Amino acid sequence: MKLIAPLTITLFATTALFSQTTMCFKENHNSMSTIEATKLDGGECKSTFTINDMKAKGWSVDDIKITTKESKYNFIYILKKGTDSPTLMAPNANLNEKQLEEKILNRLEAKKVQEEKELKIEEKLKSKIAGKEMYMNKCQSCHGEKGEKTPYNTSRPLKDLSLEEMESAITKYAVEDDVTGYEIIMKPYASMLNDKKIKEVYEYIQTLKISESK
Ligand code: HEC
Repeated sequence: MKLIAPLTITLFATTALFSQTTMCFKENHNSMSTIEATKLDGGECKSTFTINDMKAKGWSVDDIKITTKESKYNFIYILKKGTDSPTLMAPNANLNEKQLEEKILNRLEAKKVQEEKELKIEEKLKSKIAGKEMYMNKCQSCHGEKGEKTPYNTSRPLKDLSLEEMESAITKYAVEDDVTGYEIIMKPYASMLNDKKIKEVYEYIQTLKISESK
């Protein structure tokens, strides 16, 4: 499932006349916090100068386009040089450079938070599906459709166990060598589980309880 669509932000653009314009870019950059110190490709940046270098050389940022995809950033800078004050004619003219940078960073930060949220939702969905599949394919036959059975009358119904109880029982089946009696039956199943999978199965069993009590 793909929840995150690539997104483009255009921050500002001016119609001011400049004697020189250049376009620099950086593709597949990992972090927005380091972009200022990263050598940019293209145009007058020549894979040699950072945006800070360019500013020091008298260029000013006229427009920045940032696109993101799978937590990588593509930056495109339009730089201009030659008139006295580019910001005078820009829509963001009331902001100074510092404020403008802040605005950009805030937007990126908000977008990052949003992306992380979407990733978490995706992760949760995956876990949910994994827990259900694991339980239905590997556990249900002995422990019952709703975790209500007591296989061979030796174990408690899984629906009554806390996560900690499940973890300690399963770990015990998996690690102990001299398992006896019916514990042997559980050993191969216990060996295919880890903490994450136990939790996923546990959470699936909790959803069965909810639907039962309705
Ligand atoms: C072939 C039948 C079988 C299957 C399949 C099976 N179990 Fe078990 N399970 C048992 C038996 C039998 C016991 C009781 C063993 C004993 O005597 O301690 C048990 C015990 C347990 C316990 C401990 C219960 C308690 O009272 O402490 C947990 C937790 C558990 N199983 C989880 C699972 C999970 C999760 C799966 C799927 C990945 C699974 N089992 C698959 C037969 C099975």
